[in-house]
Amino acid sequence: MAVIGVYSAKGGVGKTTIAVDLAWRSAMISQYRTLLWDLDPQGGSAFLLGCVERRQSRAASVFQRDGRPHDLIEATKYAKLSLLQADDSMRGLSMSLARLGQKRRLSQLASILLGDFDRIVLDCPPVINEVSGQIVHAADVLLVPISASPLAMRTLDSVRHELARSHSRHPPILPVLSMYNSSRPLHRETRKGVAAGWPVVPMAIHLEQSAVRQAPLGSFAAGTRADAALDRLWRGIEAKLAEKPSAPANRELVTA
Ligand SMILES: Nc1ncnc2c1ncn2[C@@H]1O[C@H](COP(=O)(O)OP(=O)(O)O)[C@@H](O)[C@H]1O
Ligand SMILES: [Mg+2]
Repeated sequence: MAVIGVYSAKGGVGKTTIAVDLAWRSAMISQYRTLLWDLDPQGGSAFLLGCVERRQSRAASVFQRDGRPHDLIEATKYAKLSLLQADDSMRGLSMSLARLGQKRRLSQLASILLGDFDRIVLDCPPVINEVSGQIVHAADVLLVPISASPLAMRTLDSVRHELARSHSRHPPILPVLSMYNSSRPLHRETRKGVAAGWPVVPMAIHLEQSAVRQAPLGSFAAGTRADAALDRLWRGIEAKLAEKPSAPANRELVTA
């Protein structure tokens, strides 16, 4: 049982695309009962999975004291993959969590849901606030997609700094070089330099197509370069999880 957060303080770096594909791999390849939990009010996960997007704004209600997450979880067209959608109500989540005064509310809810699911994948919003703080408490591994640019590296530094400052213990961070384009010198240099050894997700037409087809890449592009890269990433995450005891209380201070 584990919670995998796909997080960055930046938008547009591939978080949702990667989270949806990894959740699909978890369910369809590893055969885990998997929940994809969208925490971003933009709600991209439901769209990418081709689910009917909910009209009522109810997603944030699960965080209330009497919240009922099970009521909002829906099946998807992929066996073993369930979804907890985001909606507009999540815009005020940081404030309402702060008002609730429970630093570990997300963690608590995740622990309850891990009674029914083997893996929870969190598609996270691009924020540094109460919500990201709760994500850090809840996750067993934090995947951080980074594009090959100095500004993106700066974002990773600020995430690391923030984690070290406000969390004495936090889950391992797994930086991923996302939207990698080998024809660009800066990308190649980054991969050889600061990003050496990081998993890489290539800039790929098939990943772009994931949004057009409203389907996870793995479901329609088996055997492509992008599929192989995401498969390596999924195995890497599983290997990382196998290294660590899954109980959040046992987490060590590790940055990969
Ligand atoms: N590796 C990739 N190659 C090509 N396009 C990508 C890739 N990853 C994401 N995209 C596209 O980039 C845009 C932003 O991706 P998204 O997953 O929504 O990012 P985020 O969740 O970080 O905001 C989308 O249009 C998506 O289709
Ligand atoms: Mg997103």
